[in-house]
Amino acid sequence: MSRSNSLAFALRFVSPYRGRVAGALLALVFTAGITLSLGQGLRLMVDQGFVTGSPELLNQSVGLFLIMVVALAIGTYARFYLVSWIGERVVADIRKQVFDHVIDLHPGFFETNRGLEIQSRLTADTTVLQSVIGSSLSIALRNGLMLIGGIVLLVITNPKLTSIVMLAVPLIVAPIIFFGRRVRRLSRLSQDRVADVGSYVGEVLGQIKTVQAYNHQTQDRARFSTVVEQAFEVSRSRIRQRAWLTSVVIVLVLGAIGMMVWVGGMDVLAGRISLGELAAFLFYSLIVGLAAGALSEVIGELQRAAGAGARILELLRTEQEIAPPATGLAQLPDKLVEGIAFEEVRFAYPTRPDATVIQELSLHIRIGETLALVGPSGAGKSTLFDLLLRFFDVSGGRITIEGLDIRRLDPAQLRACFALVSQNPALFYGSVGDNIRYGRPEASSAAIEAAARAAHADEFIADMPNGYDTQLGDAGLGLSGGQKQRLAIARALLTDAPILLLDEATSALDARSEYLIQQAMPRLTQGRTTIVIAHRLATVKNADRIAVIDKGRLVAVGTHEELVACNGLYARLAELQFGAATV
Ligand SMILES: Nc1ncnc2c1ncn2[C@@H]1O[C@H](COP(=O)(O)OP(=O)(O)O)[C@@H](O)[C@H]1O
Ligand SMILES: [Mg+2]
Repeated sequence: MSRSNSLAFALRFVSPYRGRVAGALLALVFTAGITLSLGQGLRLMVDQGFVTGSPELLNQSVGLFLIMVVALAIGTYARFYLVSWIGERVVADIRKQVFDHVIDLHPGFFETNRGLEIQSRLTADTTVLQSVIGSSLSIALRNGLMLIGGIVLLVITNPKLTSIVMLAVPLIVAPIIFFGRRVRRLSRLSQDRVADVGSYVGEVLGQIKTVQAYNHQTQDRARFSTVVEQAFEVSRSRIRQRAWLTSVVIVLVLGAIGMMVWVGGMDVLAGRISLGELAAFLFYSLIVGLAAGALSEVIGELQRAAGAGARILELLRTEQEIAPPATGLAQLPDKLVEGIAFEEVRFAYPTRPDATVIQELSLHIRIGETLALVGPSGAGKSTLFDLLLRFFDVSGGRITIEGLDIRRLDPAQLRACFALVSQNPALFYGSVGDNIRYGRPEASSAAIEAAARAAHADEFIADMPNGYDTQLGDAGLGLSGGQKQRLAIARALLTDAPILLLDEATSALDARSEYLIQQAMPRLTQGRTTIVIAHRLATVKNADRIAVIDKGRLVAVGTHEELVACNGLYARLAELQFGAATV
């Protein structure tokens, strides 16, 4: 991101809080001013109190000093509070804006940009921004002010000594920066090494039965020892650098102060400057040195923030590919009568553009019918659902609903027509009831229970410790495949959309779950349009029509009997599942 870009980015998020920014800047200037004038207070105190030997003047200057200290404390409170507030607020706004944007993006985006990476942009990158906006930026401004103000006051106080300081500061700061960088780099490295140790232990202990079954402990001990020793080596060079840093700081800083005391002290003894002047001078040179050190520290931070800001901006600029049309938005009628049509649909996934997954497929689905899609695994059945829900757009041909190309509809209106039970039912953190209520948050408990009964899920839910209030762990941990699927079916039923899409993953089901789902089928499909991807032909026999899909093509459509009689692929599938007798 160019500098002007990142500035525009920061301004866009900070500008709603102009008032607070102005307040923070005011507090910043105020505190810097007070800190700098403390040096003058010090000078008065020394020259008028101690040197003149007057108790009243000492009282006065100490009183003035205390007032300034209180003012500094109040200013610092305001500065710290306002600046940190702005940092936290802006980060909260950025996080919300990124999430609001990302959750609407087309699913294809998440295949190329893994969820984990986006998560890290939401958490790690925004945290970097927060630390910069909420502290580094203020450190940079404050120390910049102090550096400039300090140098000006040094010159005013004593130009001769100032030239010595100006020569000394780079000599002191340069080695400190040099060692400081090395220490920081090494400590990042040693954190990485520690993380390596952690993941290694996690992996081995997580698979302890395999480790012990193969008597692999000796090799694991050796590997673990290597990792630990590497971590130790990195730490050792870090602490050596750190020890150097500390000694260098002591020698250089205290040495320089000693030099100044010596040079200045000579001037004091010769009566060329007052003792107060020397004290003030030492004070300002300390401030200039500290400010220079602090500035050098935060410059790296600011660069890191520019990187983080660039990544976030990129995410915010990602265009939504599946969106309502800019012009000519069509509306679906309240009641569907014409049904859905695939018209010569061709499709390849954006990640694999040369593998055509659906080829010239045409198929009309009537309102009210139950249509089964059958075919070998990998034929493209689930892909047809993706296309219907417009998770991806077709590469050729079109899909219509009520004669309208689905690309002319608002995706939200299109998706409201469907209730989906996907091949791997997704359950979310929350209670069983919450998961069923997912598509209709306002549903009553009676409606939830009715849906669960229709999906044959009520029985196992009743056996759970808190019934419908039982909390499911992450991703429904602790439920069997069949139970998850029945919950997903209950969810779809409760949504009560006109078209039910069932991607039946009977492979995950035990015989009894499969039987229960099959029992539920007639009630599920009654009075609505259903497209069911059936892996077991037992489900299919009840369908009004069956479409056989193979290698992305529609090879036959008809009833079970028709297909057994005239479609080779279907006949083979039927023979495998029902045995030769039925054929
Ligand atoms: N997200 C994806 N990206 C790329 N290729 C995919 C993706 N999902 C599925 N495919 C490929 O598309 C083909 C059809 O897959 P799918 O529709 O899931 O088959 P089915 O549901 O009939 O078993 C397969 O060859 C599969 O490898
Ligand atoms: Mg599938």
